[in-house]
Amino acid sequence: MKFPKDFLWGGAVAANQCEGAWNVAGKGVSISDVLTEGSHHKPRRIEPSLSEQYFYPSHEAIDFYHRYEDDIRLLAEMGFKVFRTSINWTRIFPTGEEDQPNEQGLLFYDRLFACCKKYQIEPLVTISHYELPYALVEKYNGWTNRKLIDLFMKYCKVIFKRYQHQVKYWLTFNEVNAGTIYTGTTSTTANFKGFSGSLADLKDNEAERFQALHHIFLASAQAVEYAHQHYPHFKMGCMIGFLGYYPYTCNPDDLLLAQEKMRMIDWFSSDIQVRGYYPSYAKRYFEKKGISIQQMPGDSQILQTGKVDFYTFSYYMTFCVSQDPNVEETTGNLLGGVKNPYLKASDWGWQIDPKGLRWSLNEIYDRYQLPIMIVENGLGAYDELTSDFQIHDDYRIDYMRQHIEQMAEAIADGVNLIGYTPWGCIDLVSLSTGEMDKRYGMIYVDKNNDGTGSLKRYKKDSFYWYQRVIQTNGEELGNL
Ligand code: BG6
Repeated sequence: MKFPKDFLWGGAVAANQCEGAWNVAGKGVSISDVLTEGSHHKPRRIEPSLSEQYFYPSHEAIDFYHRYEDDIRLLAEMGFKVFRTSINWTRIFPTGEEDQPNEQGLLFYDRLFACCKKYQIEPLVTISHYELPYALVEKYNGWTNRKLIDLFMKYCKVIFKRYQHQVKYWLTFNEVNAGTIYTGTTSTTANFKGFSGSLADLKDNEAERFQALHHIFLASAQAVEYAHQHYPHFKMGCMIGFLGYYPYTCNPDDLLLAQEKMRMIDWFSSDIQVRGYYPSYAKRYFEKKGISIQQMPGDSQILQTGKVDFYTFSYYMTFCVSQDPNVEETTGNLLGGVKNPYLKASDWGWQIDPKGLRWSLNEIYDRYQLPIMIVENGLGAYDELTSDFQIHDDYRIDYMRQHIEQMAEAIADGVNLIGYTPWGCIDLVSLSTGEMDKRYGMIYVDKNNDGTGSLKRYKKDSFYWYQRVIQTNGEELGNL
């Protein structure tokens, strides 16, 4: 067998990209609710006015909030053993500062997790997937204020207690390492108080961002420690947006650049969350950038006691790095980077590198020796719904097949890979562009970029293919 018999096959979504119902049943405004639509060539905007002149894709999304029973039934039909989703903080604490949680919000996740249980699907829950109450941006400038640690802990204590019998696997912050780069300002550190306009015009403040990230690490560590103390059966994980960097040439300068990139973008956050302390290489980076992180007595102890139990990551692409400023670049997840002449790319310019997944898995496992899950992976592509309601997405099947083959290779290399939840198993709103047309799912949702569409669901060819992959525990990967 290529995969262990209890391998967790499934798929992943995030509340803010699928639920919709943005102002229903007491829910507050989240940072994702103030983001307008964009496209590959047009940046999204932050428009907190919520004015009718803008279109906000999260407000309805794919209406998972009202349709989750049918959707989970379809995922169960594919054979899912695990379903990764997130809890929307603003359903539970609309502004983050209420004393009491919003019971109606809690009830929604009661129902959702009960539905998963009905089909014996294990939920894997991200506590904060690129969202927090927008009120905390306006009042505190997001995570720059230490106060958010207590507010996050209040939220965690409520959901841990409420869902202790339904949820075992938790991830604290989605792609927490986004906070090490400028794109994290909107999604992770949320230090954009007072800003409205195009994301292209949002100014970066790196020192502020790393201070905010320090508070996020403390919040994550406190949540992990609290869970270990009160709910010893919980498994607490970190989640990293992993971007492998290859030296463009064998010039030692390129090699050192690749090492520096990987340290600060890929390893820095997980080194802290897995090992429990700031890595030695960060000191020089901070000195070079004039960054000084304010720490309180006891902070290092908190990081040390809140180490995670397993490592998870998203994997979409790799890049090259070069000391030559004239080499060609391409776009990607969170960041762009230097184009690799050996790789093909998606319609959005994201380079496709299945072997890079095997390499990444080996690097991660060698470093941490913890169980690993790939909690996002997939091809964002245009799909065509035929007149007889079919979607022939052989390109997606090819992409998934090649990545699953490399997962099997990594397992044979000795990596303890325990699960795979490809992204957007049902089509949802794209994070970077706000489009619906950038589809990842094995289930098609009839919805267009401008919000029109019937919201009906259709099974793509990849639905039946992935169903057989799961049935055969990854043994049969050929076309049907
Ligand atoms: C990851 C995020 O960065 O990439 C998801 O965790 C996101 O939220 C996914 O949707 C794919 O990116 P995009 O921009 O194609 O939606």
